[in-house]
Amino acid sequence: MGKIAYMECSKCGQHIGADRPQTVCPTDGGSLYVRYDLASINKKFARDVLCGRPANMWRYREVLPSDDPITLGEGFTPMAPSRHNPNVYIKDEGLNPTGSFKARGLCAAVTMAREYKLKKLAVPSAGNAASALAAYCAAAGIEAHIFMPSDVPTANYVECKSYGAKVTLVDGLISDCARMVNERKAAEGWFDISTLKEPFRVEGKKTMGYEVAEQLNWKLPDAIFYPTGGGVGLIGMWKAFEEMEQLGWIGKERPKMISVQASGCAPVVKAWEQHKPVAEAWQNAQTLAAGLRVPKPYADYIILDILRKSNGTAIAVSDDQIFDAVQEWASQEGVFAAPEGAASLAAYKILVEQKFLKASDKVVLFNTGSGLKYIDVIANAMENGQPVTAQPASRNIGGIIQPY
Ligand SMILES: Cc1ncc(COP(=O)(O)O)c(C=O)c1O
Ligand SMILES: [Zn+2]
Repeated sequence: MGKIAYMECSKCGQHIGADRPQTVCPTDGGSLYVRYDLASINKKFARDVLCGRPANMWRYREVLPSDDPITLGEGFTPMAPSRHNPNVYIKDEGLNPTGSFKARGLCAAVTMAREYKLKKLAVPSAGNAASALAAYCAAAGIEAHIFMPSDVPTANYVECKSYGAKVTLVDGLISDCARMVNERKAAEGWFDISTLKEPFRVEGKKTMGYEVAEQLNWKLPDAIFYPTGGGVGLIGMWKAFEEMEQLGWIGKERPKMISVQASGCAPVVKAWEQHKPVAEAWQNAQTLAAGLRVPKPYADYIILDILRKSNGTAIAVSDDQIFDAVQEWASQEGVFAAPEGAASLAAYKILVEQKFLKASDKVVLFNTGSGLKYIDVIANAMENGQPVTAQPASRNIGGIIQPY
């Protein structure tokens, strides 16, 4: 496939051709990285070339898999210094198409699906990935088959239906949705776009790493706070830093990568604290930050490895702290954040208090989505004076509530 040199397994290092659609490594199930011939790209892709290019993620097209994207204008979101501490930057991903950073990954995945002439894509989703898949599939003329928990924020469901996706609501978690996609995909002819089970969502999300560098004038921050469900963006940004080093755009320095999770579902934090290389599945996952309700990330081994290599850490925050952070960012910065994004602010405050970071450290807090997508969840919390934790409607875990 044109620009891609090969795919590389993140577990065994095996090289796999990109001439047909790939999922995971056939030997060990490892997630695949897309590799380019950076040595040749290097010769004609200098940082200055970016000047004057369109303000979207395809400004980095030399290191992206396609020259013919299905674009809705995703990426190049604002990097705004906080009004209270100019060392703290809020990277506002809520301004992406479909209101979250998921647009980047799904844009790349759907673009490549069209290049591979795939006709039907399926995804298990906590909500925002579903909306993004549905939108890009609508633009590409590809069928989207979506499995999401029945208690997803209303916006996600309404968006998916409006974009014309086939939606199945599941009385369970994203892990139950993933199992259903898995069971049915062969018979239905669906290509599985699940987090880290295809290589292109990482390619889209890695552009956040390029933007962090470009928007901070090629000097990476001391730390990056990333609300972690499946960890695609964290993995993507780390890959971007490696690529940029090979392109000679940055040096060896790296930010501390900080994985932020909700205390009601914190498998990465638990594994990190126990010095384990992989996470255990979290039982009874519950949090108002729907995107963080991922009981076991597929690429947990990569996330934990990056936290170690970057001298970062993993930290859990409660739904109360998340809700307070939503209100704080909105009232003090004018940023109405998704609960997942606001979790970054809550985590930052704790890590400064614990002296893991200094207030003078330059940090980027990722607001991964718009609060407007969570109006029902946030309104509910405001009415109750406290967050109402999302949880399946009945105990019939894994059952389908509304098939299409
Ligand atoms: C707003 C938001 N933030 C963060 C996440 C977690 O993202 P990732 O799966 O890349 O870790 C999600 C996932 O659904 C999300 O919707
Ligand atoms: Zn492998």
